[in-house]
Amino acid sequence: MNIVKTQSYEEMSRKAANIMSAQMIHKPDSVLGLATGSTPEGAYQILIERCQAGDLDFSEITTVNLDEYVGLSPDNPESYRYFMEDRLFSHVNMNAARVHFLNGIASDPISECARFETLIKELGGIDFQLLGMGPNGHIAFNEPSSSFARTCFKVGLTESTIEANKRFFDTAEDVPREALTMGIGTIMAARKILMLVSGSNKAEIAEEAFTGPICPEVPASILQLHPNVTVLGDVAALSWMD
Ligand code: F6R
Repeated sequence: MNIVKTQSYEEMSRKAANIMSAQMIHKPDSVLGLATGSTPEGAYQILIERCQAGDLDFSEITTVNLDEYVGLSPDNPESYRYFMEDRLFSHVNMNAARVHFLNGIASDPISECARFETLIKELGGIDFQLLGMGPNGHIAFNEPSSSFARTCFKVGLTESTIEANKRFFDTAEDVPREALTMGIGTIMAARKILMLVSGSNKAEIAEEAFTGPICPEVPASILQLHPNVTVLGDVAALSWMD
Protein backbone atom coordinates (compact mmCIF):
# COMPACT_ATOMS: atom_id res chain seq x y z
CA MET A 1 0.00 0.00 0.00
CA ASN A 2 1.47 3.28 -1.15
CA ILE A 3 0.30 6.16 1.08
CA VAL A 4 0.96 9.69 -0.19
CA LYS A 5 0.41 12.69 2.07
CA THR A 6 -0.37 15.98 0.33
CA GLN A 7 -0.49 19.43 1.90
CA SER A 8 -4.06 20.30 0.96
CA TYR A 9 -7.32 19.12 -0.61
CA GLU A 10 -6.29 20.98 -3.78
CA GLU A 11 -2.93 19.19 -4.02
CA MET A 12 -4.61 15.84 -3.36
CA SER A 13 -7.14 16.56 -6.13
CA ARG A 14 -4.43 17.58 -8.62
CA LYS A 15 -2.42 14.44 -7.92
CA ALA A 16 -5.56 12.28 -8.18
CA ALA A 17 -6.41 13.88 -11.51
CA ASN A 18 -2.81 13.26 -12.67
CA ILE A 19 -3.02 9.56 -11.80
CA MET A 20 -6.43 9.22 -13.47
CA SER A 21 -5.25 11.13 -16.55
CA ALA A 22 -2.24 8.82 -16.84
CA GLN A 23 -4.54 5.80 -16.67
CA MET A 24 -6.74 7.23 -19.44
CA ILE A 25 -3.78 8.12 -21.65
CA HIS A 26 -2.10 4.73 -21.21
CA LYS A 27 -5.39 2.86 -21.80
CA PRO A 28 -7.97 5.06 -23.59
CA ASP A 29 -10.61 2.31 -23.34
CA SER A 30 -10.16 1.84 -19.59
CA VAL A 31 -13.01 0.63 -17.41
CA LEU A 32 -13.08 3.16 -14.57
CA GLY A 33 -14.87 2.47 -11.32
CA LEU A 34 -16.02 5.83 -9.96
CA ALA A 35 -17.14 7.21 -6.60
CA THR A 36 -19.46 10.04 -5.63
CA GLY A 37 -19.25 12.20 -2.50
CA SER A 38 -17.34 15.38 -1.67
CA THR A 39 -13.84 13.89 -1.76
CA PRO A 40 -13.43 13.28 -5.54
CA GLU A 41 -15.19 16.47 -6.66
CA GLY A 42 -11.95 18.47 -6.99
CA ALA A 43 -10.34 15.76 -9.11
CA TYR A 44 -13.43 15.52 -11.35
CA GLN A 45 -13.32 19.29 -11.93
CA ILE A 46 -9.68 19.05 -13.07
CA LEU A 47 -10.51 16.15 -15.41
CA ILE A 48 -13.29 18.29 -16.93
CA GLU A 49 -10.86 21.17 -17.51
CA ARG A 50 -8.32 18.85 -19.16
CA CYS A 51 -10.97 17.31 -21.40
CA GLN A 52 -12.28 20.72 -22.42
CA ALA A 53 -8.70 21.83 -23.16
CA GLY A 54 -8.38 18.84 -25.51
CA ASP A 55 -5.84 17.01 -23.34
CA LEU A 56 -8.06 14.15 -22.20
CA ASP A 57 -10.46 11.96 -24.15
CA PHE A 58 -13.41 10.16 -22.52
CA SER A 59 -14.93 8.84 -25.77
CA GLU A 60 -13.76 5.24 -25.29
CA ILE A 61 -13.82 5.19 -21.51
CA THR A 62 -16.36 2.95 -19.78
CA THR A 63 -17.51 3.75 -16.26
CA VAL A 64 -19.15 1.71 -13.53
CA ASN A 65 -20.17 3.54 -10.36
CA LEU A 66 -19.79 2.05 -6.92
CA ASP A 67 -23.27 2.48 -5.56
CA GLU A 68 -26.75 4.00 -5.69
CA TYR A 69 -29.47 4.74 -3.17
CA VAL A 70 -32.51 2.46 -3.23
CA GLY A 71 -35.62 4.36 -4.31
CA LEU A 72 -33.93 7.25 -6.10
CA SER A 73 -34.37 7.50 -9.86
CA PRO A 74 -31.54 8.77 -12.08
CA ASP A 75 -33.24 12.16 -12.49
CA ASN A 76 -33.53 12.67 -8.72
CA PRO A 77 -30.93 15.37 -7.83
CA GLU A 78 -29.92 13.37 -4.73
CA SER A 79 -29.23 10.20 -6.70
CA TYR A 80 -25.65 9.23 -7.36
CA ARG A 81 -26.43 8.93 -11.06
CA TYR A 82 -27.50 12.58 -11.10
CA PHE A 83 -24.39 13.55 -9.11
CA MET A 84 -22.10 11.96 -11.69
CA GLU A 85 -23.93 13.59 -14.62
CA ASP A 86 -23.75 16.95 -12.88
CA ARG A 87 -20.14 16.78 -11.63
CA LEU A 88 -18.47 14.96 -14.53
CA PHE A 89 -20.27 13.17 -17.36
CA SER A 90 -22.26 16.07 -18.83
CA HIS A 91 -19.08 18.18 -19.10
CA VAL A 92 -16.87 15.67 -20.93
CA ASN A 93 -17.09 13.70 -24.18
CA MET A 94 -18.37 10.59 -22.44
CA ASN A 95 -20.32 8.10 -24.55
CA ALA A 96 -23.62 7.69 -22.63
CA ALA A 97 -23.81 4.02 -23.67
CA ARG A 98 -20.61 3.38 -21.74
CA VAL A 99 -21.91 4.78 -18.44
CA HIS A 100 -23.11 2.04 -16.08
CA PHE A 101 -24.93 2.30 -12.79
CA LEU A 102 -26.76 0.15 -10.32
CA ASN A 103 -30.44 0.99 -10.76
CA GLY A 104 -31.82 2.22 -7.43
CA ILE A 105 -35.42 1.80 -8.59
CA ALA A 106 -35.07 -1.73 -9.95
CA SER A 107 -38.15 -3.78 -8.99
CA ASP A 108 -35.93 -6.74 -8.11
CA PRO A 109 -32.78 -5.46 -6.36
CA ILE A 110 -31.24 -8.95 -6.10
CA SER A 111 -31.41 -9.47 -9.89
CA GLU A 112 -30.18 -5.93 -10.40
CA CYS A 113 -27.10 -6.64 -8.27
CA ALA A 114 -26.48 -9.87 -10.20
CA ARG A 115 -26.85 -7.97 -13.51
CA PHE A 116 -24.24 -5.41 -12.44
CA GLU A 117 -21.80 -8.04 -11.24
CA THR A 118 -22.13 -9.91 -14.56
CA LEU A 119 -21.79 -6.68 -16.52
CA ILE A 120 -18.48 -5.87 -14.78
CA LYS A 121 -17.19 -9.34 -15.66
CA GLU A 122 -18.32 -8.95 -19.29
CA LEU A 123 -16.51 -5.62 -19.48
CA GLY A 124 -13.34 -7.51 -18.55
CA GLY A 125 -13.24 -6.23 -14.97
CA ILE A 126 -12.39 -2.81 -13.56
CA ASP A 127 -9.02 -1.41 -14.66
CA PHE A 128 -8.98 1.44 -12.19
CA GLN A 129 -11.18 1.98 -9.14
CA LEU A 130 -11.48 5.36 -7.44
CA LEU A 131 -12.63 5.23 -3.81
CA GLY A 132 -13.52 7.53 -0.95
CA MET A 133 -14.01 6.39 2.63
CA GLY A 134 -16.85 7.05 5.04
CA PRO A 135 -16.13 8.26 8.59
CA ASN A 136 -16.97 4.73 9.78
CA GLY A 137 -14.48 3.16 7.36
CA HIS A 138 -17.01 2.16 4.71
CA ILE A 139 -15.98 1.85 1.06
CA ALA A 140 -18.75 2.13 -1.49
CA PHE A 141 -21.64 1.31 0.89
CA ASN A 142 -19.91 -1.66 2.52
CA GLU A 143 -20.71 -0.71 6.09
CA PRO A 144 -18.87 -2.09 9.15
CA SER A 145 -20.07 -5.65 9.45
CA SER A 146 -19.15 -9.10 10.68
CA SER A 147 -18.06 -10.27 7.22
CA PHE A 148 -16.82 -8.90 3.89
CA ALA A 149 -19.40 -9.00 1.07
CA ARG A 150 -18.12 -10.71 -2.07
CA THR A 151 -20.38 -9.24 -4.74
CA CYS A 152 -22.91 -6.44 -5.36
CA PHE A 153 -25.70 -6.44 -2.79
CA LYS A 154 -28.47 -4.43 -1.14
CA VAL A 155 -27.36 -2.91 2.14
CA GLY A 156 -29.03 -1.12 5.04
CA LEU A 157 -27.19 2.12 5.81
CA THR A 158 -25.88 2.74 9.32
CA GLU A 159 -26.84 5.76 11.42
CA SER A 160 -23.27 7.05 11.02
CA THR A 161 -23.59 7.03 7.21
CA ILE A 162 -27.06 8.61 7.30
CA GLU A 163 -25.64 11.32 9.56
CA ALA A 164 -22.60 11.86 7.31
CA ASN A 165 -24.65 12.01 4.10
CA LYS A 166 -27.59 14.11 5.31
CA ARG A 167 -25.75 17.24 4.15
CA PHE A 168 -26.76 16.33 0.59
CA PHE A 169 -30.48 16.17 1.57
CA ASP A 170 -33.02 18.61 3.04
CA THR A 171 -33.33 16.59 6.25
CA ALA A 172 -31.85 13.39 7.72
CA GLU A 173 -35.28 11.75 7.25
CA ASP A 174 -34.90 12.19 3.49
CA VAL A 175 -31.71 10.06 3.34
CA PRO A 176 -32.65 6.65 1.93
CA ARG A 177 -32.12 3.83 4.42
CA GLU A 178 -30.90 1.33 1.81
CA ALA A 179 -28.51 1.27 -1.11
CA LEU A 180 -27.21 -1.06 -3.80
CA THR A 181 -23.46 -1.34 -3.73
CA MET A 182 -20.50 -3.17 -5.18
CA GLY A 183 -19.23 -5.71 -2.68
CA ILE A 184 -15.75 -5.77 -1.21
CA GLY A 185 -14.92 -8.65 -3.56
CA THR A 186 -16.03 -6.61 -6.59
CA ILE A 187 -13.81 -3.71 -5.51
CA MET A 188 -10.82 -5.88 -4.61
CA ALA A 189 -10.90 -7.45 -8.09
CA ALA A 190 -10.06 -4.04 -9.65
CA ARG A 191 -6.56 -4.01 -11.14
CA LYS A 192 -5.62 -0.65 -9.57
CA ILE A 193 -7.20 1.26 -6.74
CA LEU A 194 -6.87 4.93 -5.81
CA MET A 195 -8.32 5.84 -2.42
CA LEU A 196 -8.79 9.54 -1.62
CA VAL A 197 -9.15 10.68 1.96
CA SER A 198 -9.56 14.25 3.11
CA GLY A 199 -10.29 16.14 6.33
CA SER A 200 -9.54 15.76 10.02
CA ASN A 201 -12.79 13.85 10.63
CA LYS A 202 -11.26 10.96 8.63
CA ALA A 203 -7.85 10.93 10.41
CA GLU A 204 -8.70 8.43 13.13
CA ILE A 205 -10.44 5.95 10.80
CA ALA A 206 -7.70 6.35 8.17
CA GLU A 207 -5.03 5.36 10.69
CA GLU A 208 -7.12 2.40 11.80
CA ALA A 209 -7.88 1.29 8.24
CA PHE A 210 -4.39 1.60 6.83
CA THR A 211 -2.25 0.58 9.81
CA GLY A 212 -4.59 -1.49 12.00
CA PRO A 213 -5.82 -5.07 11.77
CA ILE A 214 -7.70 -6.15 8.64
CA CYS A 215 -11.29 -6.74 9.73
CA PRO A 216 -14.83 -6.29 8.35
CA GLU A 217 -15.64 -3.89 11.19
CA VAL A 218 -13.31 -1.48 9.32
CA PRO A 219 -14.18 -2.31 5.70
CA ALA A 220 -11.43 -0.13 4.15
CA SER A 221 -8.79 -2.16 6.02
CA ILE A 222 -9.14 -4.88 3.37
CA LEU A 223 -7.30 -2.58 0.95
CA GLN A 224 -4.06 -3.46 2.78
CA LEU A 225 -4.30 -6.80 0.93
CA HIS A 226 -4.66 -5.30 -2.56
CA PRO A 227 -1.50 -5.55 -4.68
CA ASN A 228 -1.85 -2.14 -6.37
CA VAL A 229 -3.42 0.49 -4.15
CA THR A 230 -2.46 4.11 -3.64
CA VAL A 231 -3.93 6.18 -0.84
CA LEU A 232 -3.79 9.92 -1.50
CA GLY A 233 -4.71 12.02 1.48
CA ASP A 234 -4.43 15.58 2.67
CA VAL A 235 -2.43 16.50 5.74
CA ALA A 236 -5.59 16.70 7.88
CA ALA A 237 -6.61 13.10 7.15
CA LEU A 238 -3.05 11.73 7.33
CA SER A 239 -1.89 13.79 10.34
CA TRP A 240 -0.91 10.55 12.12
CA MET A 241 1.82 9.82 9.52
CA ASP A 242 5.41 10.94 10.23
C1 F6R B 1 -19.73 7.14 -2.79
C2 F6R B 1 -19.17 6.12 -1.92
C3 F6R B 1 -18.88 6.41 -0.49
C4 F6R B 1 -18.06 7.69 -0.28
C5 F6R B 1 -17.82 7.92 1.20
C6 F6R B 1 -17.09 9.21 1.44
O1 F6R B 1 -19.98 6.62 -4.08
O2 F6R B 1 -18.98 5.03 -2.36
O3 F6R B 1 -18.19 5.31 0.06
O4 F6R B 1 -16.85 7.57 -0.97
O5 F6R B 1 -19.04 7.95 1.88
O6 F6R B 1 -17.90 10.29 1.09
P1 F6R B 1 -17.35 11.77 1.09
O7 F6R B 1 -16.33 11.84 0.01
O8 F6R B 1 -18.54 12.63 0.78
O9 F6R B 1 -16.76 12.01 2.45
